[in-house]
Amino acid sequence: MPHCDNITATPFSTGGSILGTLLENHDRRWGALLQNWYDHAGVAWTPGMIVGHDLRAWFDTFCPWSEFSASMRLLAMHCLPSQEWIPQSLLESSFETLLDFWEDVELLAGQATIGTEDFLHRLLCECADPPRFGTRPGRYPEQLAIMGRAESLLDLGCGVGLGTLEAARATGAAEVTGVTLEPLEAWMATQRRLPHDLPRSREFAPFKDIHAKFLSGDATEYRGDHRVSLVICNGLAGGRFLKSTPKMKALLETVDANLLPGGRALLANSFHQGFRKSTEDFMQIAAEAGWKVDGDWRCLALVRNSEK
Ligand SMILES: C[S@@+](CC[C@H](N)C(=O)[O-])C[C@H]1O[C@@H](n2cnc3c(N)ncnc32)[C@H](O)[C@@H]1O
Repeated sequence: MPHCDNITATPFSTGGSILGTLLENHDRRWGALLQNWYDHAGVAWTPGMIVGHDLRAWFDTFCPWSEFSASMRLLAMHCLPSQEWIPQSLLESSFETLLDFWEDVELLAGQATIGTEDFLHRLLCECADPPRFGTRPGRYPEQLAIMGRAESLLDLGCGVGLGTLEAARATGAAEVTGVTLEPLEAWMATQRRLPHDLPRSREFAPFKDIHAKFLSGDATEYRGDHRVSLVICNGLAGGRFLKSTPKMKALLETVDANLLPGGRALLANSFHQGFRKSTEDFMQIAAEAGWKVDGDWRCLALVRNSEK
């Protein structure tokens, strides 16, 4: 699993003439494609706009998402350390159209050209941490109220780490690890800086003194060197990232493998009602796998049945 602790500076390489040329090509092509769309359709896109099926399909013939995402991946490959760092949202299968991408990534909303390398870097950070992830302190007050003290803490699906650091402060844990899918998220968590979102970046300020290690990788495969007394896992189980039964079972096995005897796992989310059923399925699967499950679909506490 890649370790982001030792990346103290920026992961972005800059100034290469190839990247400059690729950026110019991207902007020339996508500026023209989008202009062509506006000339033909005369429809101005705005955030939150409801776009019907026909208009979406028509838009995609002018500005195909498959080609836009391929162009973005090419740019990303030329400024990130390796292919693994390319944000998942730039995979062709992540969205159906560029319109859906615009809804997710506000920095680019309504445009397709990038301009500068600095803007490209911020854009990639937002692709890895779009506003809908919403990681920030104070997000799960009910969980905070039952957290108690803990010697050591593991946060599965920690995002940019603001919730991890808040839990570290609340529990007084001396050993703190966060694991998240995107290397760029783990890097931002390690740096305590969000280049794409300065207001939220300031929310790191109270946690500067807290030591925590952030790793990127699939949380369902994580096996730490030491077990911990508290696992938290927020905004993940039952949500769009982790809905299948095998994935839920794998997550529970990860929790089991990383938890000390007598330890607890706390899981919270702010999913909309559409995810209630899959979250309640997770509670059922946990109960069948030998966990005592307390709480409701928004805020759960798990302990092993053998330790009741
Ligand atoms: C909705 S966000 C929640 C972030 C944070 N835990 C919170 O509640 O504010 C979901 C996070 O899980 C991460 N994620 C998704 N699938 C994952 C996986 N298989 N392993 C680790 N992290 C994952 C995403 O990158 C994202 O940061």
